[in-house]
Amino acid sequence: MKIALIGYGKMGQAIEQIALQRGHEVVLRIRTANKHEMTPENLSKADVAIEFTKPEAARENVMHCLNAGVAVVCGTTGWNEHVDEAKAKALTKNTAFLQASNFSIGVNIFFEVNKRLAALMEDQPDYEISIEETHHTQKKDAPSGTAITLAEQILDNMTRKKRWEKEQASGSEAFPIIAHRIENVPGTHNVKYSSGIDDIEIIHTAHNREGFARGAVLAAEFVAGKSGVFQMKDVLGI
Ligand SMILES: NC(=O)c1ccc[n+]([C@@H]2O[C@H](COP(=O)([O-])OP(=O)(O)OC[C@H]3O[C@@H](n4cnc5c(N)ncnc54)[C@H](OP(=O)(O)O)[C@@H]3O)[C@@H](O)[C@H]2O)c1
Repeated sequence: MKIALIGYGKMGQAIEQIALQRGHEVVLRIRTANKHEMTPENLSKADVAIEFTKPEAARENVMHCLNAGVAVVCGTTGWNEHVDEAKAKALTKNTAFLQASNFSIGVNIFFEVNKRLAALMEDQPDYEISIEETHHTQKKDAPSGTAITLAEQILDNMTRKKRWEKEQASGSEAFPIIAHRIENVPGTHNVKYSSGIDDIEIIHTAHNREGFARGAVLAAEFVAGKSGVFQMKDVLGI
């Protein structure tokens, strides 16, 4: 498979290592300085573009690749308001689009546990909910995309909560997402149900970036040659 890496920072470089190990070829590497090289002609040399840049750049980059007819795997977080536009573009261009707030296999299993726990807690109003996430200090968005996905899954599986709020919840229908930024932490997420009697917590701790990179390459292998909008659930068959 031929891959265009849109964003060649911490994630782009980790993805390249895994992609080469798996026998793929990287045909384009885009950073801020050479983004003019992201032409339809250069993009068309790739089977898949893998986009990991920053929230302000993701929409334009993704639309550019989809307009060139190239399938896109996107891991950039913090641009949720434009993701539906990209999904629609992939369908009109008859190509593929897969966006995930977290590509690690462990987190995607954690997501399924989170949904099940929320459904079990629907009729247990003594338990208050909170989500905490910790990431490295260079992370641009807060709360993390993964924490927002966890919160949306809780809201989809529980009617007694209506919204999440940043840092502090106002009123009984809300629950907080608390974000911490600490040097060198790849990503930790904790969902806690707390009552006067006991607490239940589920925690995912990433030890490094390899899990995200490996998942992104698996997703690229999955979408190559397909058309449609996909999720990590499809890639992992869960
Ligand atoms: N979904 C997941 O599993 C997952 C996992 C980890 C991280 N992430 C997300 O992935 C994104 C990237 O993370 P990272 O740690 O790799 O960040 P990073 O180390 O800061 O790298 C970002 C890269 O994007 C490039 N870039 C910035 N603006 C650009 C533009 N307009 N056009 C083209 N390239 C541009 C940067 O170029 P320069 O080097 O020239 O500045 C850099 O190479 C973040 O949103 C992060 O939250 C997602």
